[in-house]
Amino acid sequence: ASAVDRAIDAFRRGEPVLVHDAADREGETDIIYPGGAVDAEAIVHLRADAGGLICAAVSHDVAETIELPFLEDELDHPAAADHELGYDDRSSFSLPVNHRETFTGITDDDRALTIRRLAGVAKQASTGNYDAEDFAADFRTPGHVHVLRGAPDLLSDRRGHTELGLALADAAGLPPAVVVCEMLDEESGGARTPAAAREYARRNDFVYVEGAALIERLE
Ligand code: 5RP
Ligand code: CA
Ligand code: ZN
Repeated sequence: ASAVDRAIDAFRRGEPVLVHDAADREGETDIIYPGGAVDAEAIVHLRADAGGLICAAVSHDVAETIELPFLEDELDHPAAADHELGYDDRSSFSLPVNHRETFTGITDDDRALTIRRLAGVAKQASTGNYDAEDFAADFRTPGHVHVLRGAPDLLSDRRGHTELGLALADAAGLPPAVVVCEMLDEESGGARTPAAAREYARRNDFVYVEGAALIERLE
């Protein structure tokens, strides 16, 4: 089977997929899990093996339903006036949240709980029975899981890990909520190279896929 087919199958089974965006974009490989499959053990993989920022991406529609804004639109500080990213037009950051049943929000159990509940929200939001008030009753901000908002038309609009992960969830028939975290190199502190990310995938029996392959199939 192709890497894309294996990635979709892995997602359906609740397993992570490693996605390299593109050499001419961030040039990063993120470990991506379907949100509903995230337990404390998955958080350990993300913080200890990947090492980047643990973020939960939800679709544009879900974010609209629960009124989760882009963070840059909400900030009044001059540092938010000009975003100036070297690799894209804009970041996908929304608010950082914790589920209200967490304590500090940062432990493996707490972050896993917040993320699984976000996946539950993504599923429920499409039924029309869940709105911003419900979200506020269940979650608080600031928190320790960074929510990302996907672009409306996913890969036709933007080709970040946010959209690559959400496109994978869509193809797997899963709710539009995924967790992403950049893989960093322990020695250099830079991005893990695609070769090193592939090697990590091989050792752990995880699927590695290029963003270009996902775009070709799923856009
Ligand atoms: C949050 C990020 C990551 O790069 C993450 O992959 C989401 O961003 P993008 O969609 O721009 O790739 O910056 O840690
Ligand atoms: Ca990044
Ligand atoms: Zn990224």
